[in-house]
Amino acid sequence: MAKMNPRLAFAIISSTCWSAFQHGYNTGVINAPQAVMSEWLQKEALSGTNTSVSAMVDPKVTSVWSVAVSIYCAGGMIGGVITGIIADRFGRKGGLLLNNVLVFLAAALQGASKVVKSAEMLILGRLLIGVNSGLNAGLVPLYLSEISPVSIRGSIGTVYQLVITVTILLSQLLGLSSVLGTEDGWPWLLALTAAPAVLQCLTLPLCPESPKYLLLNQGRELHAQRALNWLRGDVAVHGEMEEMHQEAEKNKISKKVTLRELFRNRNLRLPLFISTVVMIAQQLSGINAIIYFSTDIFEKTHLGSDAAQYATLGIGAMNVVMTIASLVLVEVAGRKTLLLAGFSGMFICTVGITVATSYTQHVWVSYLCIALVVLFVTMFAIGPGSIPWFLVTELFNQSSRPAASSVAVTVNWTANFIVGLSFLPLSLALGNNVFVIFAVLQFLFIIFIYTKVPETKNKTVDEITAMFRQRM
Ligand code: GLC
Repeated sequence: MAKMNPRLAFAIISSTCWSAFQHGYNTGVINAPQAVMSEWLQKEALSGTNTSVSAMVDPKVTSVWSVAVSIYCAGGMIGGVITGIIADRFGRKGGLLLNNVLVFLAAALQGASKVVKSAEMLILGRLLIGVNSGLNAGLVPLYLSEISPVSIRGSIGTVYQLVITVTILLSQLLGLSSVLGTEDGWPWLLALTAAPAVLQCLTLPLCPESPKYLLLNQGRELHAQRALNWLRGDVAVHGEMEEMHQEAEKNKISKKVTLRELFRNRNLRLPLFISTVVMIAQQLSGINAIIYFSTDIFEKTHLGSDAAQYATLGIGAMNVVMTIASLVLVEVAGRKTLLLAGFSGMFICTVGITVATSYTQHVWVSYLCIALVVLFVTMFAIGPGSIPWFLVTELFNQSSRPAASSVAVTVNWTANFIVGLSFLPLSLALGNNVFVIFAVLQFLFIIFIYTKVPETKNKTVDEITAMFRQRM
């Protein structure tokens, strides 16, 4: 059975590390330097601001700031929508390489915005890097699932989420006021996003295009075989070639599926429903309420702002550690079990947080809150963080995979956008009870996963799609 080898590892690193970097880094990067950047907006970039009040409460500054933060997710939605078209037109590797153009543009716009005193450039840069991240979230899992041997497909798929967690942590560290989160440092902090794009342009061209894309989309038999030889470090790839041929035969009958057909085809309805609900579950579990606002949440429990910042770093670190654990667990326990365990744990923590935050007059309760939030992120990282990204690529065959990924990724970014925009207003209106909403949703998602999601561990795509046909 095919296993990990140095070339496959190189292809995983070249495709995933430098792309998922954009997704994680730009999710976290804007958090820590909010105060210094708001001040810049107030004093230099915007006219008509009220400099007698703090920039953080100046309505003009805060509204421009929230646009700059949330437009990133709007870009992600656009990237999701065009994933299918780009993946089919330019290939998985080709699409990823091309996507770096957006990174260079975004880095230049954001990096130069301070010198030019332009809030518009900052916002446009955030939009472009959002489109780039949305495309990455679709293209990377497609490429990974198509180059992976079946027996380690889940572990390899998890690498995407692992890099997201590492780079969120990196952005939190670099954003500290002792590093680049300063008046002069923040343009560098934002422009740094170009570095991984350079690395990708140097390394990814050395790797082959997805063999499945070469054979099933382009009919280039010899190229597909060479790509597979390269990736497996082996000339004996008959078994896998044979499987691809069988899929190709079926593909001839069920030619490429467009977005419209995806919604119309009865056989695809259930897998599409499952992939999108799992994406919605990942976001509406409330994870980004914690990732975006944890420092704020901790400060409300009467911890000092230093302690709150360290607690936030603790969360980031735990997210990384547990995602590493899930890399192994996903092939042992399976996708469904980890999703169920993760969401159930998050549910218990959320109920705990709702109760505990009502009693923060006791210091020990503040510490209990931190512990519960860290545990919440741990439970997220065990499965709900990584599995949704690659589950969609496992539920569809070559003809419908890009379109289905497009839909699932767009839904994910849309839900992310909604949580980001509504969490602060909701917590103002509902106080700590805002977490009750997440608890109820998590409970519903647990029931859904239990009843609808199939186990895909160790199954070929052919076996999985056959399972759905039988169910219909
Ligand atoms: C997942 C989510 C992303 C979140 C991250 C946290 O990748 O899609 O929105 O920020 O996990 O680890």
